[in-house]
Amino acid sequence: VKIFATPTEGAINVANQIATLIKEKQSIGEKCVLGLATGSTPIKLYAELVRMHKEDNLSFKNVVTFNLDEYYPIEKNSIHSYWSFMHKHLFNHVDIEPSNIHIPDGEWPKEGIRKYCEEFEAEIEKAGGIDLQILGIGNNGHIGFNEPGSSILSKTRLLVLESSTRIANSRDFANLSKVPKLAISMGLSTILKAKKIILLAWGNKAPIIAKSVEGSITDQVPASFLQQHEDCTFVIDEMAANDL
Ligand code: GLP
Repeated sequence: VKIFATPTEGAINVANQIATLIKEKQSIGEKCVLGLATGSTPIKLYAELVRMHKEDNLSFKNVVTFNLDEYYPIEKNSIHSYWSFMHKHLFNHVDIEPSNIHIPDGEWPKEGIRKYCEEFEAEIEKAGGIDLQILGIGNNGHIGFNEPGSSILSKTRLLVLESSTRIANSRDFANLSKVPKLAISMGLSTILKAKKIILLAWGNKAPIIAKSVEGSITDQVPASFLQQHEDCTFVIDEMAANDL
């Protein structure tokens, strides 16, 4: 666990780690495969990466990305889609190749969704696996949209959102009834296969951070499975560290 005085300092630290990894990979002619998250938490991180692209010449030409999750069903162009979120906060402002961007497709026909999810997993494998996975955390301990009860063996799939998650996320929608009931999310096994994981949390997440870091490993707190990963760091601010 790394504790910073403010979210800005935490976000800058993580942006620097990402930039270092991208440059290391560039210098040996390799792609850098990033797993990315949405939600309010990584917004400052993406803003810092955009700044580094504009002011420090950080290039994303060798970067391949896989996003954790997407609402289902949802149109890409909906202002509520994670597709729109990622383009607004990062992809529209850097030199990443559009073909290197992978976000679960909320428009995919339901009949073919199983196969689609298998292909999403296969794409990650084909890219050589995720070098660095960025995570946020839900107040119920979810990572991606893996709600409590998700199996450690779970893979990318269509799943049902908990009502507490829909209520928390309704702040982005006109009202609760507009929040999709389903989502496509990488599974816990998909996330745990990443070579390195950084989970970010700021503000009023102290109780769930304490349970995830110091509590027993249980499917009732999906983020607690991260204790079993050999290279996972929680980058949090002082408020989120309050119960540790
Ligand atoms: C959302 C996302 C998660 C995110 C979490 C926390 O539902 N699916 O990937 O980490 O909830 O969101 P926030 O960062 O806004 O607190």
